[in-house]
Amino acid sequence: MSAEDTASSRALAEHYTRQNLEAPGSLDAFWMPFTANRQFKARPRLLASASGMFYRDVDGHEVLDATAGLWCCNAGHARPRIVEAVKQQIGTLDFAPNFSMSSPLPFRLAERLAALAPGDLNHVFFSNSGSEAVDSALKIALAYHRVRGEGQRTRFIGREKAYHGVGFGGMSVGGLPNNRKWFGPGLPAVSHLRHTLDLQRNAFSKGLPPHGIELAEDLERQIALYDASTIAAVIVEPISGSAGVILPPEGYLQRLRAICDRHGIVLIFDEVITGFGRVGHAFGAQRFGVQPDMMTAAKGITNGCVPMGAAFVSDRIHDAFMSGPDSAIDMFHGYTYSGHPLACAAALATLDTYEEEGLFDKALELGDYWQEALHSLKGLPNIVDIRNFGLIGAVELAPREGAPGARAYDVFARAFHEGHMLIRVTGDVIALSPPLIIEKSHIDRIVQTLGDAIRATA
Ligand SMILES: Cc1ncc(COP(=O)(O)O)c(C=O)c1O
Repeated sequence: MSAEDTASSRALAEHYTRQNLEAPGSLDAFWMPFTANRQFKARPRLLASASGMFYRDVDGHEVLDATAGLWCCNAGHARPRIVEAVKQQIGTLDFAPNFSMSSPLPFRLAERLAALAPGDLNHVFFSNSGSEAVDSALKIALAYHRVRGEGQRTRFIGREKAYHGVGFGGMSVGGLPNNRKWFGPGLPAVSHLRHTLDLQRNAFSKGLPPHGIELAEDLERQIALYDASTIAAVIVEPISGSAGVILPPEGYLQRLRAICDRHGIVLIFDEVITGFGRVGHAFGAQRFGVQPDMMTAAKGITNGCVPMGAAFVSDRIHDAFMSGPDSAIDMFHGYTYSGHPLACAAALATLDTYEEEGLFDKALELGDYWQEALHSLKGLPNIVDIRNFGLIGAVELAPREGAPGARAYDVFARAFHEGHMLIRVTGDVIALSPPLIIEKSHIDRIVQTLGDAIRATA
């Protein structure tokens, strides 16, 4: 490289670095997702860089990340292996089509992922997000029944308060009223189990709540009403994250599994947030000892740094598609970016990082400390429940009269602007999901900063 080339590449690098640091002239054009745009733009919170457990905002404050971005960056930020892999990949193979063509990377990655997944979930269908992973899994379930001559199985059973992303499929099986009510009727044949949040019986439980296994029997009621022969699949998050951390009562997931088995219903676990070490195993299915027929993942699959999702499929389901002539396309579904090389490279380096640093064990090693630290907040003003599992936590506040969500939002804003800490709120629930590289001293700081913000918020 000539001296001139070196100077111009340095200038480019500086230009692209500066882009992150300088606040933009106007905030108008970017219509932000799931955001009160006018409120945000009146007092923006802009992050400029990230490393390890911390962000740095455009004002230069170091911000402790108590949410792994958005449940994504399980290995922390800007991890060297992942950074290097992405840098190398973009200059080597920037894109390769995966329709009747491919590159070695998605095969390599799918094999690694299948080895991590529970039981015989040996086949991986790639997407670009959790929403697409969910819609892919729902479509695979429908087509699976059809290829075996049970095409009348078209009903999906979701659950109240569930979040399965924002595609029409995920929205329909999801159970958050605000995410549904604006967008029409959704898929035609969907019903919902009751949610498992029960503050009266389970408030301040440590780990899984003891009461509520009987709620799984809702599935039997749906079967009695619609007949099993019309039901394609049941989809649940082992732990609901976006609805405000709702845990499965002890034995609940096992009972759902048993009912699905009795009636030939496909059981899908949506592990977009419980995957990749969040609960002390690769996936929630392993931690809970329940084997789903399909599983969806995203977020931690690339440590959040390149968009990617995946639907994991059992041998039985996959093999049912392989019965036609070899020359026939076995499933008419896919995305231009399914198995994108950049995402695959990021995911492979992410899996290396998880493995080298033993990060899937961290939620087990630190789980008790995390639990006791969070529960020490009990008794502070307005706290009505504290929930925890693995390295997930939630503090639920009583809503202000006539203003649901306002109290938790104020805690969130105070934690950011005064405590320089990023937390997440859903309604009046504060959700915590720190990177798995967290140390005890970070946990102490999270609890201290959160406690201060709650005490200071009326
Ligand atoms: C359980 C679950 N499923 C699906 C999704 C959707 O993922 P994405 O936002 O990547 O589309 C999320 C996102 O939070 C999730 O928590």
